Amino acid sequence: LITIRELYKNKENYVGKEVSVGGWVRSIRDSKTFGFVVMNDGTFFETLQIVYSDKLINFAEISKLNVGAAIIVKGLLVATPEAKQPFEIQAADVTVEGTSTAEYPLQKKRHSLEYLRTIAHLRPRTNTFQAVFRVRSLIAYAIHQYFQERDFVYVHTPLITGSDCEGAGEMFRVTTLDMENLPRTTEGKVDYNEDFFNKETSLTVSGQLNGETYAMAFRNIYTFGPTFRAENSNTTRHAAEFWMIEPEIAFADLQDDMMLAEGMLKYVINYVLENAKEEMQFFNQFVDKGLLERLHNVATSEFGHVTYTEAIEILEKVNDRFEYKVSWGCDLQTEHERYLTEEVYKKPLFVTDYPKDIKAFYMKMNEDNKTVAAMDLLVPGIGEIIGGSQREDDYAKLTARMAELDLKEEDYEFYLDLRKYGSTRHAGFGLGFERCVMYLTGMANIRDVIPFPRTVNNCEF
Ligand code: 4AD
Ligand code: MG
Repeated sequence: LITIRELYKNKENYVGKEVSVGGWVRSIRDSKTFGFVVMNDGTFFETLQIVYSDKLINFAEISKLNVGAAIIVKGLLVATPEAKQPFEIQAADVTVEGTSTAEYPLQKKRHSLEYLRTIAHLRPRTNTFQAVFRVRSLIAYAIHQYFQERDFVYVHTPLITGSDCEGAGEMFRVTTLDMENLPRTTEGKVDYNEDFFNKETSLTVSGQLNGETYAMAFRNIYTFGPTFRAENSNTTRHAAEFWMIEPEIAFADLQDDMMLAEGMLKYVINYVLENAKEEMQFFNQFVDKGLLERLHNVATSEFGHVTYTEAIEILEKVNDRFEYKVSWGCDLQTEHERYLTEEVYKKPLFVTDYPKDIKAFYMKMNEDNKTVAAMDLLVPGIGEIIGGSQREDDYAKLTARMAELDLKEEDYEFYLDLRKYGSTRHAGFGLGFERCVMYLTGMANIRDVIPFPRTVNNCEF
């Protein structure tokens, strides 16, 4: 069987010849003596028209097919210069592999994204999700390529962990204990010594701490895997299970980190513009008008830079327009992030040097002793897409900060060892993969860029 992608890409090899194609019926029209089937096979963002006639012995069977049926068609590929599509198949044989029914939910009309979420197992058969999930796949490939071309080592960090990297307490517990009959210590606490790992464990919120250990061995590494957060935020940008890319670079500071992030994002944008032309055109036309122009601009101009302190000064001047008023020390909300990147800078914007109290324990303290060498990358339409920092590489400063935050040294021995044995400046960041897919496709809801979304109150399929 040949793919529709191959027919389109190398049509001169196939026009005028007999071909066999397997695919699914998108629409069907028949009259007494002949009919048309439009099918797609998912390999390319175009459909293929099949003309069939009552000369076929199963003409009646074909005419009765419902949308969604799986068929294999054999016949002559003929050029159709006047038509919308460059060619069609004149069927010599149509084999019905699997029928469908009239109740098939994806009839030829537009469905809302909300409705399609309720049929997450069927939605990849629609144009929108064909485009989203092929582009998602290409972005993943481009990210690997960016790092591999630069000799970064891909590290598989564990999903089950005993530490809370971000210290936000948003972990999903992993346990084999009997919930109905929990073992208790003499003080009445749950006795995790009885649990599978002899300790309390959770699904990881970030691979960073493990990633850092490999950066101290390989210099440049990255992770790319699922992460989990039990954040109770029911927004269009939060998922409980999402994928994160976390590079970590040794002998590098915050400037190097931002250059890496900017280079990576531009590389990935150029990659999809080049390798998913049909899909990107579709997004530009039907999902987000202006997407292509915006991405071209992002790929060819420099990102903005502002410190947190400067950003607060800008935001305080227009405090009346915000639901959450800002003042120095507060965490930036999405409304503030979007104002900065959409209205003030109108491009991707690095915000740096946040107050230490709103950031994680591992970030390097700045000389002012109030802020840390952190950076968030904000983009129009979404807000934060990347969070990163230079890491605290000084043993005494790190343990002092951990003591302030009541973190137990014995839980982080492996991490502290990195500051004992050949410590050096190093930095890294985390790119939220789904937010990156949203940014590059113009899709507005995280639920529509991950195949089977897990969000508050929702773990279907
Ligand atoms: O800013 P975050 O929390 O940073 C870290 O986890 C660091 N350990 C990264 C590092 O320095 N290696 O998360 C990084 C990114 C965010 O910028 C956001 O894009 C994404 O992960 N993210 C989420 N995406 C979807 N749903 C959620 N609930 C997310 N939480 C964070
Ligand atoms: Mg963050």
